Amino acid sequence: MCGIVGYIGHREASPILMEGLERLSYRGYDSAGVAVIGRDGKIGLRKAKGRLENLQALLSEDGVQGRVGIGHTRWATHGEPSNLNAHPHTDMKGDIAVVHNGIIENHLSLRRQLEMNGAQFVSQTDTEVVAHLLNFLYEGDMKTALLKAMSMLEGSYALGVICTREPHVIYCARLGSPLVIGCKEGEGFIASDIPALLSHTRDVIFLKDKEIGELSRSGVKVYDVFGNLQHYEPYHVEWDLNSAEKGGYAHYMLKEIHEQPEAAKKTFEPRYSGVPGDYGWLPIGPEEVRRLRKITIVACGTAYHAGVAGRYAIEKLARIPAEAAIASEYRYREPVIGPEELVIAVSQSGETADTLAALREAKRRGARVMAICNVVGSTIAREVGDANTLYTYAGPEIAVASTKAYMTQMELLLMLAIALGEMRGELPAERARELHSQLHGLPAELEKALLTEQQLQRFASLASHKKHVFFVGRGLDYALSMEAALKLKEVSYIFSEAYAAGELKHGPIALLQEGRLVVATVTQSALVDKTLSNLREVKARGASVVAICRESLRDKVQPEADELILIPDADDLLMPLLAVIPLQLFAYCMAVARGCDVDKPRNLAKSVTVE
Ligand code: G6P
Repeated sequence: MCGIVGYIGHREASPILMEGLERLSYRGYDSAGVAVIGRDGKIGLRKAKGRLENLQALLSEDGVQGRVGIGHTRWATHGEPSNLNAHPHTDMKGDIAVVHNGIIENHLSLRRQLEMNGAQFVSQTDTEVVAHLLNFLYEGDMKTALLKAMSMLEGSYALGVICTREPHVIYCARLGSPLVIGCKEGEGFIASDIPALLSHTRDVIFLKDKEIGELSRSGVKVYDVFGNLQHYEPYHVEWDLNSAEKGGYAHYMLKEIHEQPEAAKKTFEPRYSGVPGDYGWLPIGPEEVRRLRKITIVACGTAYHAGVAGRYAIEKLARIPAEAAIASEYRYREPVIGPEELVIAVSQSGETADTLAALREAKRRGARVMAICNVVGSTIAREVGDANTLYTYAGPEIAVASTKAYMTQMELLLMLAIALGEMRGELPAERARELHSQLHGLPAELEKALLTEQQLQRFASLASHKKHVFFVGRGLDYALSMEAALKLKEVSYIFSEAYAAGELKHGPIALLQEGRLVVATVTQSALVDKTLSNLREVKARGASVVAICRESLRDKVQPEADELILIPDADDLLMPLLAVIPLQLFAYCMAVARGCDVDKPRNLAKSVTVE
C-alpha cells in the first residue's frame, strides 16, 4: 500500500531512492516519483505514471542531482494513477515536498480550510493537504510544523518530508503505517520496509506511532509527540540482502515457494526442544490455557485462510471452540467476546489495517490477544507486545502473492493446537510426540512435494486458456482450496472459486459442463470416499478433474482424475502443509503460461494499510 523512501548523505540521492523503490514496488506500482533538493537549493521533482521503469527512463533523460531526497511508489486510493496524483506532493511554491503512505481521513475538511487560506491544489490526493498544511504551519522550524500538523491529521500515515529552508534534513513521522529509519555513519535512510535499506545498513530504528524522525548527516534524532528527544538503540537486522533477492529464480514467487522447506524448519526448530510437554515458547501458561473457552483467529486474505486451517487443527486437537473471522467483517460486527476468550491476529506484514482494527476491537472488549506475524517490529507485533507474538520465521516475503508466510502460519497454528491439546489433557502425549516428529521431518517432505513443479508446468501449458477453475475439498482440503482459488485468481486473473465438495450439489454444480476444470484436493483420510463421490458427480457433468492426492491414495483416486498430482504421505493434519505446494505451483505456472506479471499482479498490493 504505497512505499516510501528517503536518503540523506554524501552520495547522489536519486539512484539510492530508485533502488529502494524497486525493492518496495511490491507495495504498489501504479506510479512513482522522487523529489531531490538540488545543488541550486530548489526541489527537483520527477514523477511518472505506470511502473518504476517509466520513472527510471525519465530520470535517465532528465535527472535530478542532489544528496537529499525522498521517493514514493504508489497504490492509488484517492485519485486515479496519473502523473499529477503521483507523489511526492509539494506546497504551491514547491519548497516543501511530501511522500505519504496511508490515508488522511479528514483531508476534505483540511483542504477546504487551506483553500480558504489561498492554497491551490493540483491533485486529487489526500496527501497534497499535508504539503500545504506544513507550509501553512511553518514558522522557521519543520519539526514544530510537523508536530502541529500531526495533531490535525486524522487517519494513518507514514510521511517523508524535505524542505528547501532546511536543506540538510529529512523529516519523517508515522501513525499506523510502517516506517523504518536506517542508520549509518554520515548517512540516513527512511523506508516503508527493511529490504529497501538492506544494501546500505542493517541497523534500523522502527519509528513508533506519533513519533518524528529527524535525519541529517550527523545522525538520527527521534522525538515523541510532545517534541521530547527519545533515546534509541538501533535494532540489528539479522537477515541479509540475499534473502530479499531473486537468487536465480525467474520470480520472487517461485523463489519463495522453494524456500518453504527452510521456512518450515526455521519456524519449528527454535520451539522444539524434544522434551515432551515443553511449551515454553507459548505466551500463555497452563492455567490460562485450561480456562480458555474460545479462540478466534482474525486475519485477511491468505492469512485468513491459514486461520481457517488453524481452526480445524485447534478444534480437533485441543477441543476448544475456534473460529476464523475475516478481520474487515469482525471489526464492525460488534463481536461477542466471552470471558476467557483468546483472539489471535494472523498477519504476514503485521501492518494490515483491518487485522489491526479487529485486534484492537477484541482487546477493547476484553479478549486476551496474541499475534502470529512474520515481520519483526511490525505494528501488530508491537500492539500485542513481543511476548505475545509468535513469529513465523519465513524471512522476507516480497512477491505480492503470499506463499511461504502462509505455510508457516499454518505450521505455527498447528504447533499451537498441539500445545493447547496437550496442556488441556485432550491430546495424548504419544500423539503429540508423533505430530512433533512429523513436523521435524516436514522440510524433507516439502522438498519432495516441490518435485511436482515440472508436471504442473506441463499441465499449465495445456490448461492456461481456461476461463474458470473450481477448487474443491472437504475439511482441511476445503480450507486449502480456498487459498488455492485465491492464489490462482491473484496471479493469473482466472476466475476461480473454492467450494466445500459437499456443497457442489447445492448450487455450484449448475456451472459444471464440458470444458470446466475442477481441482480437487484429496488428502483427508476420513473424507476421501465422500470427496470421490463428489468427483464422480463432477465428471458426470463433463468437467475434467485434477486431483492433488497423497501417495497412499493413488489407486483409489486415479479412476476419478484426469490428472493426478501426488504428494508425500503424512498425518492428515500435516497434509495441507504439503498439498499447498502443488497448488501454489499450479497458480504460478498458469500465470507464467498466460504471460502475467507474477510478482506484481494488477490492482494488488502486498501490505494493505488502508480499510
Ligand atoms: C493483501 C495481500 C495478501 C495478504 C493480505 C493480508 O491483500 O495481497 O497476499 O494475504 O493482504 O496480509 P497480511 O500481511 O496481514 O498477512
